[in-house]
Amino acid sequence: HKHLLGTKGLSATELTSILDRASYWEEYPVKVSNHLQGRFVANMFFENSTRTRFSFEVAEKRLGAEVLNFTAAVSSVQKGESIYDTVRTLESMGIDAGVIRMKPNGLLAELAQKIKVPLINAGDGNNEHPTQALLDLYTMRKHFGHISGLHVAIIGDIRHSRVARSNLWALRTLGARVSFCAPAEMQAAELAEYAPYTTIDEALKADVVMMLRVQLERHEGSLFRSAEEYRAAYGLTVERAAKLAPHAIIMHPAPVNRNVEIDDELVECDKSKIFTQMSHGVPIRMAVIERALS
Ligand code: CP
Repeated sequence: HKHLLGTKGLSATELTSILDRASYWEEYPVKVSNHLQGRFVANMFFENSTRTRFSFEVAEKRLGAEVLNFTAAVSSVQKGESIYDTVRTLESMGIDAGVIRMKPNGLLAELAQKIKVPLINAGDGNNEHPTQALLDLYTMRKHFGHISGLHVAIIGDIRHSRVARSNLWALRTLGARVSFCAPAEMQAAELAEYAPYTTIDEALKADVVMMLRVQLERHEGSLFRSAEEYRAAYGLTVERAAKLAPHAIIMHPAPVNRNVEIDDELVECDKSKIFTQMSHGVPIRMAVIERALS
């Protein structure tokens, strides 16, 4: 079996084979197949989600798996049961794979040592969100025909972003150039050796402009006291979007704070791939679940 804990350490061959298998599923769409008939997959979300959770569920159902949905809010987690004990409990009932999202950093790697069934990371702390990066790379490859040589500028709350980290590792492995753009309090110093920090004007020259959700709740008392100030300094406004290269695309993992990191009018503009990214979540997660259970 194969865990998927992150994109860090995945080879170009492994990344490409997941993207290729997702292409297959997009090219030959099925409502429901019998690929994983009789296999049980548990979705274990210890943190909120809309896109990741439901696209995993759609992917599992299209593959014909039996789907178990665990929700922390109505579980014995409320009585103090730990994440480890919860996952062990589901494992002891005979699940074949687990999809897991959680807040703590580092816990997933520990769980993966102790749990025998394959675990797929659906986002852990600010560490990794590998299936998001895979669907982002899939979107870029489909649009440009390649990933190698692209310049991807990731703008916003890098420090708290697992999406930025998973994209950074995967994009570098496949030969793209990544740059970051963020105010000081949203920068991650430990990533500076892999991606330079640039001004917003430099970032607007990229082939892919990837906006991140500003987690404003985490920045009380920081440089930006309001969403308006953030938008003025780092937001993708209509005025800034007019400076993008003709071939450039706009991405955002969502959920979106409209009129904070990206203007309302841009969310569904011609250059925006935001809802396309979401639709690619299903074939990517089909490929990832198959890989885990193959
Ligand atoms: N992009 C993403 O992970 O969205 P959710 O938190 O809604 O799953």
